[in-house]
Amino acid sequence: MTKAEIELREITSENVGQVLRLSVADDQACFVATNAVSLAQAYVYPECAWPRAIYAGDALVGFLMLEILKPDHPKAPDGRASYFLWRLMIGSGHQHNGYGTAAVRAAIAFVRGLPDAHALKTSYVPDKPGSPGPFYLGLGFVPTGKVDEDGEIELSLEL
Ligand SMILES: CC(C)(COP(=O)(O)OP(=O)(O)OC[C@H]1O[C@@H](n2cnc3c(N)ncnc32)[C@H](O)[C@@H]1OP(=O)(O)O)[C@@H](O)C(=O)NCCC(=O)NCCS
Repeated sequence: MTKAEIELREITSENVGQVLRLSVADDQACFVATNAVSLAQAYVYPECAWPRAIYAGDALVGFLMLEILKPDHPKAPDGRASYFLWRLMIGSGHQHNGYGTAAVRAAIAFVRGLPDAHALKTSYVPDKPGSPGPFYLGLGFVPTGKVDEDGEIELSLEL
Protein backbone atom coordinates (compact mmCIF):
# COMPACT_ATOMS: atom_id res chain seq x y z
CA MET A 1 0.00 0.00 0.00
CA THR A 2 1.39 3.45 -0.82
CA LYS A 3 1.73 5.78 2.15
CA ALA A 4 -1.49 7.74 2.62
CA GLU A 5 -1.27 11.50 3.18
CA ILE A 6 -3.51 12.82 5.91
CA GLU A 7 -3.79 15.94 8.02
CA LEU A 8 -5.21 16.32 11.53
CA ARG A 9 -7.39 19.42 11.71
CA GLU A 10 -9.30 21.10 14.50
CA ILE A 11 -13.05 20.66 14.77
CA THR A 12 -14.66 23.98 13.88
CA SER A 13 -18.08 25.44 13.10
CA GLU A 14 -17.26 24.64 9.45
CA ASN A 15 -16.71 20.89 9.82
CA VAL A 16 -18.51 19.85 13.01
CA GLY A 17 -21.68 18.80 11.15
CA GLN A 18 -19.72 16.57 8.81
CA VAL A 19 -17.75 15.06 11.71
CA LEU A 20 -21.02 14.25 13.50
CA ARG A 21 -22.38 12.53 10.38
CA LEU A 22 -19.26 10.41 9.81
CA SER A 23 -19.70 6.85 11.02
CA VAL A 24 -18.23 3.37 10.85
CA ALA A 25 -20.07 0.33 9.44
CA ASP A 26 -22.93 -0.98 11.61
CA ASP A 27 -20.98 -4.09 12.58
CA GLN A 28 -18.08 -1.91 13.79
CA ALA A 29 -20.20 0.26 16.08
CA CYS A 30 -19.26 -1.96 19.06
CA PHE A 31 -15.60 -0.92 18.72
CA VAL A 32 -15.83 2.87 18.98
CA ALA A 33 -18.16 5.53 20.41
CA THR A 34 -19.98 7.76 17.96
CA ASN A 35 -18.30 11.04 17.14
CA ALA A 36 -21.21 12.79 18.89
CA VAL A 37 -20.35 11.02 22.15
CA SER A 38 -16.64 11.78 21.68
CA LEU A 39 -17.28 15.47 21.08
CA ALA A 40 -19.57 15.62 24.12
CA GLN A 41 -16.72 14.13 26.18
CA ALA A 42 -14.28 16.63 24.67
CA TYR A 43 -16.65 19.40 25.80
CA VAL A 44 -16.83 18.03 29.35
CA TYR A 45 -13.09 17.26 29.65
CA PRO A 46 -11.46 20.16 27.78
CA GLU A 47 -8.36 19.98 30.00
CA CYS A 48 -7.38 16.58 28.61
CA ALA A 49 -9.29 15.91 25.34
CA TRP A 50 -7.56 16.60 22.03
CA PRO A 51 -10.13 15.90 19.28
CA ARG A 52 -9.11 16.17 15.63
CA ALA A 53 -10.72 15.54 12.24
CA ILE A 54 -8.69 13.38 9.83
CA TYR A 55 -8.51 14.79 6.30
CA ALA A 56 -7.19 13.30 3.09
CA GLY A 57 -6.84 16.42 0.98
CA ASP A 58 -10.18 18.20 1.30
CA ALA A 59 -12.09 15.03 2.21
CA LEU A 60 -13.01 14.33 5.82
CA VAL A 61 -12.20 10.64 6.29
CA GLY A 62 -12.04 10.08 10.05
CA PHE A 63 -11.80 11.30 13.60
CA LEU A 64 -9.39 10.75 16.46
CA MET A 65 -9.14 11.99 20.01
CA LEU A 66 -6.18 11.85 22.37
CA GLU A 67 -6.38 12.02 26.14
CA ILE A 68 -3.48 14.13 27.34
CA LEU A 69 -2.97 14.15 31.11
CA LYS A 70 -0.53 16.72 32.42
CA PRO A 71 1.57 15.62 35.44
CA ASP A 72 -0.59 17.67 37.84
CA HIS A 73 -3.84 16.06 36.62
CA PRO A 74 -5.42 13.94 39.41
CA LYS A 75 -5.59 10.93 37.06
CA ALA A 76 -1.95 11.21 35.89
CA PRO A 77 -0.19 7.98 36.89
CA ASP A 78 2.73 8.53 39.32
CA GLY A 79 2.59 12.26 38.66
CA ARG A 80 3.85 11.76 35.09
CA ALA A 81 2.33 13.00 31.87
CA SER A 82 0.17 10.38 30.16
CA TYR A 83 -0.85 10.06 26.51
CA PHE A 84 -3.72 7.84 25.41
CA LEU A 85 -5.34 7.34 22.01
CA TRP A 86 -8.89 7.62 23.28
CA ARG A 87 -10.79 7.38 19.98
CA LEU A 88 -10.01 6.49 16.39
CA MET A 89 -12.38 5.91 13.54
CA ILE A 90 -12.18 5.98 9.77
CA GLY A 91 -15.52 6.47 8.00
CA SER A 92 -16.96 3.29 6.53
CA GLY A 93 -16.42 4.38 2.92
CA HIS A 94 -12.80 5.37 3.51
CA GLN A 95 -11.28 2.34 5.25
CA HIS A 96 -8.38 0.22 3.90
CA ASN A 97 -6.74 3.18 2.21
CA GLY A 98 -4.02 3.58 4.81
CA TYR A 99 -5.71 6.56 6.52
CA GLY A 100 -5.97 4.86 9.93
CA THR A 101 -2.27 4.00 9.85
CA ALA A 102 -1.34 7.52 8.74
CA ALA A 103 -3.55 9.09 11.42
CA VAL A 104 -1.98 7.02 14.22
CA ARG A 105 1.49 7.92 12.91
CA ALA A 106 0.54 11.62 12.89
CA ALA A 107 -0.76 11.32 16.46
CA ILE A 108 2.51 9.63 17.49
CA ALA A 109 4.54 12.42 15.88
CA PHE A 110 2.44 15.02 17.70
CA VAL A 111 2.79 13.29 21.07
CA ARG A 112 6.56 12.88 20.60
CA GLY A 113 6.80 16.68 20.62
CA LEU A 114 5.08 16.98 24.02
CA PRO A 115 6.79 16.96 27.44
CA ASP A 116 7.79 13.57 28.95
CA ALA A 117 6.31 11.63 26.02
CA HIS A 118 7.50 8.16 26.99
CA ALA A 119 4.59 6.11 25.63
CA LEU A 120 1.29 6.30 23.76
CA LYS A 121 -1.32 3.91 25.09
CA THR A 122 -4.66 2.79 23.74
CA SER A 123 -7.19 0.02 24.32
CA TYR A 124 -9.50 -2.04 22.18
CA VAL A 125 -12.48 -4.37 22.34
CA PRO A 126 -11.20 -7.93 21.72
CA ASP A 127 -12.82 -11.20 20.71
CA LYS A 128 -15.20 -9.94 18.03
CA PRO A 129 -14.80 -10.21 14.27
CA GLY A 130 -13.25 -7.00 12.92
CA SER A 131 -11.61 -6.08 16.24
CA PRO A 132 -8.92 -3.44 15.64
CA GLY A 133 -6.38 -5.39 17.74
CA PRO A 134 -4.37 -6.63 14.72
CA PHE A 135 -4.34 -3.10 13.29
CA TYR A 136 -2.66 -1.72 16.44
CA LEU A 137 -0.27 -4.67 16.80
CA GLY A 138 0.79 -4.05 13.20
CA LEU A 139 1.68 -0.49 14.16
CA GLY A 140 3.99 -1.69 16.96
CA PHE A 141 1.70 -1.42 19.98
CA VAL A 142 2.17 -4.22 22.51
CA PRO A 143 -0.20 -5.47 25.23
CA THR A 144 0.59 -4.14 28.71
CA GLY A 145 -1.22 -7.04 30.38
CA LYS A 146 -3.92 -4.74 31.74
CA VAL A 147 -7.62 -5.15 30.97
CA ASP A 148 -9.87 -2.24 31.87
CA GLU A 149 -13.24 -2.34 33.63
CA ASP A 150 -15.03 -2.69 30.25
CA GLY A 151 -12.90 -5.69 29.24
CA GLU A 152 -10.79 -3.63 26.82
CA ILE A 153 -7.19 -4.77 26.29
CA GLU A 154 -4.62 -2.06 27.00
CA LEU A 155 -1.77 -1.55 24.53
CA SER A 156 1.30 0.65 24.69
CA LEU A 157 3.77 1.98 22.15
CA GLU A 158 7.13 3.13 23.48
CA LEU A 159 8.05 6.51 22.02
C1 LIG B 1 -9.35 0.27 12.75
C2 LIG B 1 -9.47 1.36 11.67
C3 LIG B 1 -9.26 2.74 12.32
C4 LIG B 1 -8.37 1.13 10.62
O1 LIG B 1 -8.43 2.18 9.68
P1 LIG B 1 -8.06 1.95 8.13
O2 LIG B 1 -7.86 3.28 7.52
O3 LIG B 1 -9.04 1.04 7.51
O4 LIG B 1 -6.67 1.18 8.31
P2 LIG B 1 -5.48 1.07 7.24
O5 LIG B 1 -5.99 1.16 5.86
O6 LIG B 1 -4.41 2.02 7.65
O7 LIG B 1 -5.07 -0.45 7.58
C5 LIG B 1 -3.80 -0.92 7.53
C6 LIG B 1 -3.84 -2.42 7.80
O8 LIG B 1 -4.28 -2.67 9.12
C7 LIG B 1 -5.04 -3.88 9.14
N1 LIG B 1 -6.39 -3.55 9.57
C8 LIG B 1 -7.09 -2.40 9.41
N2 LIG B 1 -8.28 -2.47 10.00
C9 LIG B 1 -8.36 -3.71 10.53
C10 LIG B 1 -9.33 -4.37 11.30
N3 LIG B 1 -10.49 -3.79 11.66
N4 LIG B 1 -9.05 -5.64 11.67
C11 LIG B 1 -7.89 -6.23 11.35
N5 LIG B 1 -6.93 -5.64 10.64
C12 LIG B 1 -7.16 -4.39 10.26
C13 LIG B 1 -5.01 -4.44 7.77
O9 LIG B 1 -3.89 -5.28 7.65
C14 LIG B 1 -4.82 -3.23 6.94
O10 LIG B 1 -4.31 -3.51 5.71
P3 LIG B 1 -5.35 -3.84 4.47
O11 LIG B 1 -6.23 -2.65 4.31
O12 LIG B 1 -4.43 -4.04 3.31
O13 LIG B 1 -6.11 -5.06 4.86
C15 LIG B 1 -10.84 1.29 10.94
O14 LIG B 1 -11.03 -0.02 10.46
C16 LIG B 1 -12.03 1.67 11.82
O15 LIG B 1 -12.39 2.85 11.93
N6 LIG B 1 -12.64 0.64 12.42
C17 LIG B 1 -13.84 0.83 13.24
C18 LIG B 1 -13.58 1.62 14.52
C19 LIG B 1 -12.46 1.03 15.34
O16 LIG B 1 -12.32 -0.18 15.52
N7 LIG B 1 -11.65 1.96 15.88
C20 LIG B 1 -10.59 1.63 16.81
C21 LIG B 1 -11.11 1.82 18.19
S1 LIG B 1 -9.97 1.22 19.39
